[in-house]
Amino acid sequence: MSADAKILRGRTLTFHAEPNGPDDTAAYTCLEDGALLIRDGRIAAHGAYAEVSRAAPEAEAVDHRPHLLMPGFIDLHLHFPQVQVVASWGEQLLDWLNTYTFPAEVQFTDKTHADRMARAFFDLVLSHGTTTAVAFCSVHPASAEAYFAEAARRNMRMIGGKVMMDRNAPDGLRDTARQGYDETKALIERWHGKGRASYAISPRFAITSTPDQLEMAGALAAEHPDAYVQTHLSENRDEIDFTLSLYPDAPDYLGIYERYGLVHDKTLLGHAIHLEPREIDLLAEVGGKPVFCPTSNLFLGSGLFDDGGLRAKGIQNGIATDIGAGTSYSMLQTLNEGYKILQLQNQKLHPLNAFHWITRGNAEVLGQLQEIGTLDVGTEADIVVLDVAATPAMALRAEAATSLSEELFILQMLGDDRAVVETYVAGEAMKPQSGSPARD
Ligand code: GUN
Ligand code: ZN
Repeated sequence: MSADAKILRGRTLTFHAEPNGPDDTAAYTCLEDGALLIRDGRIAAHGAYAEVSRAAPEAEAVDHRPHLLMPGFIDLHLHFPQVQVVASWGEQLLDWLNTYTFPAEVQFTDKTHADRMARAFFDLVLSHGTTTAVAFCSVHPASAEAYFAEAARRNMRMIGGKVMMDRNAPDGLRDTARQGYDETKALIERWHGKGRASYAISPRFAITSTPDQLEMAGALAAEHPDAYVQTHLSENRDEIDFTLSLYPDAPDYLGIYERYGLVHDKTLLGHAIHLEPREIDLLAEVGGKPVFCPTSNLFLGSGLFDDGGLRAKGIQNGIATDIGAGTSYSMLQTLNEGYKILQLQNQKLHPLNAFHWITRGNAEVLGQLQEIGTLDVGTEADIVVLDVAATPAMALRAEAATSLSEELFILQMLGDDRAVVETYVAGEAMKPQSGSPARD
């Protein structure tokens, strides 16, 4: 019997399927006095506390009552080198990239800077209850190295890749088609499948890649079919116009990525707001995954993601913060803004669907349900502990709540890192102590 067995006690909540409506109680299990038995970083049992503790009397128990224990949050799109770009004023996408983002990313040529930002990034992610994320690093291999090394140090299930970009970017922030291929290949060999890491081949977007580079990215995708592909798609009207001017023969924006073999069921497409019918049909057919980035889309004034329209076509959408155009590291705040974007289109984001989305739903988009996204026995013990009464406003509102859905909605609308009591990574408590960011 493993010496480090432990029991986490609290209200447990896990989803088994996408809820089919507010009354779909079969879609989830919520145990009022529940427990998770953790052994060797995995969930060994999930059930009523009395039963789990009887079956494992040797296990030390951590009592999180009355808080909620859920699978750790999953963030499907963010930019690790943009931690110092968040909250930069005044521009829409293309000017925002040129004015704020590219200058910040140039600094990641410096390994000391990249290492320090990686520590700060992972502290922030964990403080907000996120245990898996898919990140773009900068064009510099050292940034991906810093990212994966820090993730490995914390034993986190993380996905990422260095961006490939060989045009329309300043000096110090471009590779070449060949260099992008070679550096990506070397990083895949070094990190993909090592520990809990997976690699995402990451051509930034069609504007910053020549056709030669997209061809090389497609070759990498063909050579590594189990790696992810991530890029950006149809975020902003000016972006789309510029993109189509660079690829005049393409039928549409997605057709560019399609032509180079970059659209498959492990492809994550950030934003995907202004899509043409052909693009939607193609996603439905081949399985590319749009990723909704609510706080970013509002911040940059990009547009309203049509979640309901895409779902109606059978497309699986992810949801993400998109730091640093996104304005919060919190998947709870992401749900808050997502709710409002859907409201503007007369669509609804019920709290059961919302919490399914940032846990099991995003895990399913990644094809990693065997490992993460639920409290199922055998999966990795990445868990977030949430306090529905974390702030005075939440506590007052929670007094009047009469159902699980109401409590979840309080977290969805009012929650942030203050609602995260603890974050467990493979069974270890990892929420950083609050304080100033990592220094050298
Ligand atoms: N499109 C290409 N690069 C980026 C980026 O860094 N952020 C956002 N929001 N969109 C992009
Ligand atoms: Zn992005």
